[in-house]
Amino acid sequence: MSDQQSSADPRPDLDDKINVADAHASLGDTPAVNREKRVTENGMEPVSLGLILLSGFVMLVGGAVLGKGGGFFDYDELYLDGMVRAPDTGGPPPVILPAPALALLSKEGAKVYSKCAGCHGAGGAGGSGIPPLAGSDWVTGPTEQLSQIIYHGVTGPIEVGGVAYNGVMPAQGLGLGKKELAAVMTYIRNDWGNKASVVSLEQAAKALEIANARGDGAVTVEELKKNHDKDLEGAELLPETLIDPITFEPVEVQAAK
Ligand code: HEC
Repeated sequence: MSDQQSSADPRPDLDDKINVADAHASLGDTPAVNREKRVTENGMEPVSLGLILLSGFVMLVGGAVLGKGGGFFDYDELYLDGMVRAPDTGGPPPVILPAPALALLSKEGAKVYSKCAGCHGAGGAGGSGIPPLAGSDWVTGPTEQLSQIIYHGVTGPIEVGGVAYNGVMPAQGLGLGKKELAAVMTYIRNDWGNKASVVSLEQAAKALEIANARGDGAVTVEELKKNHDKDLEGAELLPETLIDPITFEPVEVQAAK
């Protein structure tokens, strides 16, 4: 027996197997057929108006319940007790004040120094087989020399404070930008009793340029003496020169009116 119920079958079409639209289409374009209300496909029937109104009503009530009970739109629930909004004074936005180069670079440099402290010690006093930075002429001496030690690391015999060392310091250049380099150099040159010039951003940039041109590998004392026994080129920065705390560039200070 075929799936499609034939018209000869006397039983009523209880399973709705005959598509009424198709059955009518077979009758052709006759006025009687055209008068019939179009039958929509299964599943595409229009929703009753009552259902639309009912769901609208449910959403309305739901929204009211959430708004009243949930506290989702409640100012007191969202903001901390006692929090007061700063009054809008209508003035210019707050300015970040420039600070003296030595103080600012040292503060930032102390943070960078945390990657050295594991070996050279928190006070720069060194350790077994590791030379001190406090009181070291390598630290307070020519800045180009110091910058290349930090960037590339140093290997082989080196004398610090009359004591001979012969170890390997791994390169510290990875992740060091000119800001970090200027900061850490200024910090170690001016803490723990050390006293030497501030390293400017321009000088640190020069140091990176030299380091990149040289290529990888730890430096030796021989190479340092031969190629880098001098101060870095670039504008000098006095300890009290005001610099921008974000860019580390010197700022023009406007005279008070
Ligand atoms: C893994 C250990 C280690 C780390 C980390 C390290 N150093 Fe060194 N550093 C050494 C050793 C070892 C020497 C001596 C190498 C030699 O004998 O040739 C040395 C030598 C030096 C020297 C020259 C000698 C002296 O004492 O003045 C300087 C300057 C220096 N380090 C600075 C730094 C700075 C700045 C950092 C961080 C950015 C740093 N080091 C990170 C182990 C380390």
